Amino acid sequence: MTTEPTKPVRRLTVPQIAARKGGERIVSLTSYHAHTAAIVDKYADFILVGDSLGMVMHGMETTVGVPMDLMIMHGRAVVRGTKRALVVVDMPFGSYEESPNMAFRNAAKIMKETQCGAVKLEGGARMAETIHFLTQRGVPVMAHIGLTPQSSHTLGGFKTQGRDEDSWPLHIGDAQAVAEAGAFAVVVEGVVEPLARQITETVHIPTIGIGASAHCDGQILVLEDMLGLNARPPKFVKVYGSLAADIERSVSAYADEVRSGAFPTEDQVYR
Ligand code: KIV
Repeated sequence: MTTEPTKPVRRLTVPQIAARKGGERIVSLTSYHAHTAAIVDKYADFILVGDSLGMVMHGMETTVGVPMDLMIMHGRAVVRGTKRALVVVDMPFGSYEESPNMAFRNAAKIMKETQCGAVKLEGGARMAETIHFLTQRGVPVMAHIGLTPQSSHTLGGFKTQGRDEDSWPLHIGDAQAVAEAGAFAVVVEGVVEPLARQITETVHIPTIGIGASAHCDGQILVLEDMLGLNARPPKFVKVYGSLAADIERSVSAYADEVRSGAFPTEDQVYR
């Protein structure tokens, strides 16, 4: 009897994601660990190891304090746990803004040490030179414009962008600048719907929306937010799960059973 050789699973590539502009919508979620990433991997086109992990996993107030080694550690875990989705790792604040050379050194470190397929960095026109420098040297870059959390201190918090129509040309200019510089996709975060629509219609690369309406080529959410682990998720999050309640119910049942002696039972004992 002959057995059919199983087809090797291939990861989605940067050009495949870029080619989805205006076509099949791009599905994405964040993930920070191997076990959640393995589930997300079955359904998402790309997985972002976002620096939001500083707030979600490590209790930080903003993403500003996230160090490189943390991104690399979580990036490695996600790559290990997945085989299908493109894995994109965030460049943390302070690792790329100073100069294109510095950005290349740190992007190369992230790619070598995590084996991810691309990096993401925040900023529009001001980062265009750096994006061009990186993409010319083999580093695929996803850009991130609109509400850029690493600039939350400058923006005065996590504020929706584009409420004032006078600011639209600035945001559209940012999108154009990163697209022309060579970014293969751009995350558009926290912008009003008509601005998101204009950005998507203007640029030739896929827009990935988060709090930016359905007028984007794809969507991304923070996994823990959509699973119901965040007690106060932002307005743009649709909560699909009830993980906080499930965890609490389970932990409370375990605590009761340990205290009463109902756990462990015969089933959990080695004879
Ligand atoms: O860090 C992150 O999780 C992100 C997403 C919110 C896009 O940048």
